[in-house]
Amino acid sequence: MEINIYNDYKQMSNKAANFIINFLQSGQEMLLCFAAGDTPIKTYQYLKEAIDKNNNINTDQLKFVSLDEWIGLNEKDKGSCENYLNKYLFKPLEIKAQNIHFFDACANNLKEECLQSDRYISANGPIDLLVLGIGLNGHIGFNEPGTVKDFSHIVKLDSITKSVSKKYFSGKRGINRGITLGLKQIMGAKNIILLASGKKKAEIIYKALVGQITKEIPASILQEHENCYVFLDKKAASGLKTI
Ligand code: F6R
Repeated sequence: MEINIYNDYKQMSNKAANFIINFLQSGQEMLLCFAAGDTPIKTYQYLKEAIDKNNNINTDQLKFVSLDEWIGLNEKDKGSCENYLNKYLFKPLEIKAQNIHFFDACANNLKEECLQSDRYISANGPIDLLVLGIGLNGHIGFNEPGTVKDFSHIVKLDSITKSVSKKYFSGKRGINRGITLGLKQIMGAKNIILLASGKKKAEIIYKALVGQITKEIPASILQEHENCYVFLDKKAASGLKTI
């Protein structure tokens, strides 16, 4: 695991976008998986700006698989993962719909949705580059503390995730469950970027990066990934001073 600390959110996002651009320069076909949420928004904006200036990157070579979704929400719901990613990533980069595999979190048969996602990764994977954020409870994707599974699955969201979810949605949504890739699929990614910014993430970043590897802090397993690159701003890294 490589930990990079930058002055602020903008600088962190810029460096993360540069990392992704360098990665995409190879021009090879790739499977990518990018988190939704607030933290990566600026990274995706810088990525769009850099791709516009760089003729070497052919986005038609890229396939995407979704990391997670709130059960009961879809693209039409402002704040859903699909809505976020379309808005900040896929529409700006003009990624064709046939190159994106989303979870349909409104499907009648959610188990089948999980299987379809697993099959998509088996057919097109492993994931070449995975961009993650981290929840205040240490979740990655929706792998909640203590509920760790290997493959795509449905999960009961914990109270911290439910409470934090209100920032994405206007009005009450009554969200209780999520659908997510599993930790084996996450750890099977060839390269992982973990992004965190702000003082509120300092404590969980300390626990995840320096503490014991435990199912109670799902992100702590990333300590075992050889190609995990952590991008933090100073505030998120403030708990690491003690190491
Ligand atoms: C979203 C996702 C979540 C978020 C995490 C941090 O697709 O996978 O694990 O990355 O909850 O969210 P923000 O960035 O909003 O703090």
